[in-house]
Amino acid sequence: MTSPSSPKLRVAVLFGGRSGEHEVSLMSARSVIAALDPAQYEIFTVGITHAGNWLMGENTLDCLEQNKIESLDHVFLFPTPGQPGLYAMRDTQYVRIAEPDVFFPVLHGTFGEDGTMQGLLELADVAYVGAGVTGSAVGMDKGIFKDVMRANNIPVVDWVILNRSEIRTDMEAALRKAESLGAYPLFAKPANLGSSVGISKCRNRSDLAEGLLEAATFDRRILVEHGVLQPREIEVSVLGNENPLASVCGEVLPSREFYSYESKYVDGTSGLIIPANIPAETSDLIRSLAVRACQAIDCAGMARVDFFLDTASGSVFLNEVNTLPGFTSISMYPKLWNASGLAYPQLVDRLIELALERKADRDRTVREFRRDM
Ligand SMILES: Nc1ncnc2c1ncn2[C@@H]1O[C@H](COP(=O)(O)OP(=O)(O)O)[C@@H](O)[C@H]1O
Ligand SMILES: [Mg+2]
Repeated sequence: MTSPSSPKLRVAVLFGGRSGEHEVSLMSARSVIAALDPAQYEIFTVGITHAGNWLMGENTLDCLEQNKIESLDHVFLFPTPGQPGLYAMRDTQYVRIAEPDVFFPVLHGTFGEDGTMQGLLELADVAYVGAGVTGSAVGMDKGIFKDVMRANNIPVVDWVILNRSEIRTDMEAALRKAESLGAYPLFAKPANLGSSVGISKCRNRSDLAEGLLEAATFDRRILVEHGVLQPREIEVSVLGNENPLASVCGEVLPSREFYSYESKYVDGTSGLIIPANIPAETSDLIRSLAVRACQAIDCAGMARVDFFLDTASGSVFLNEVNTLPGFTSISMYPKLWNASGLAYPQLVDRLIELALERKADRDRTVREFRRDM
């Protein structure tokens, strides 16, 4: 991809974004940028504001963090394959100010991890790190995701889907539908969100009514799930395109009753145990389920796959796939690879290689079919 005049691979790191995980994204991006070897890469840093503006300039990350964005250029990526690269307005004209070989979205949640950004990158016909449109969208939607898991015989806990309108018009019927799952506790969750936002553990009917209303403020579709009583939370990192590899397993020890938003980001005391202290057969099972789950949703590049291990029965349930997992140097995803023999900078290199491989593969696809008349 590089030309003799520009021997370095040009990488645009995208961070921030419009989701509630904007700040987490800035932290992840700081680690990724620090790991990119400047001898090997020319790095462009593109910050996306809460409002969705794309900004680029000197120290974009610091500027975004400190909300000092006046000096930054507004940049645009056109959904037009013939105009690759990032453009800025100069006088009255759009001028290309960067032509990255690969885009690295370090964005979590809505408009970053859910397939929408990936759609733009596809339309622009550029190479990008991570899952494509389908893998991202299915990984993000907890309801559709579970349908796909069940169709592939991958164990997940039972669930029902409720629409916001059902909850608002007939709460009694909504509660009955959710209670058909069996005994409490039940978990109420927005179908498309992350970081545990809007998730409630419901011990009884009044908790559930509250939990449904809370989840319904964040999404049109709400998932109610059978609660695993004493889950151990086991996570695996997956890396690769069609035949990905799984890392060793890790365990999360939430600082609260469940791995809530506070437990993830406020307390700072949730523990990570790497490798998880679980039997070898369980670890093998979890690692193979993680790979199968990624293949089932057509994931690419990376994913952190999260499981519940039911302490009482020893049963394993796949909880979710995160296609753009937390990526700070102390996040589970890179730490699991580190423990599996792949250090953080090499992990970042590998993800970029995988992005270029995926793009080359995409370029082999015939887009037009014209029958000879
Ligand atoms: N069915 C369940 N049984 C037990 N605990 C659960 C269940 N669903 C979620 N939890 C708890 O809530 C946390 C967040 O739920 P999760 O579905 O992973 O949402 P998010 O995508 O926001 O991380 C989990 O890590 C776990 O601690
Ligand atoms: Mg989770």
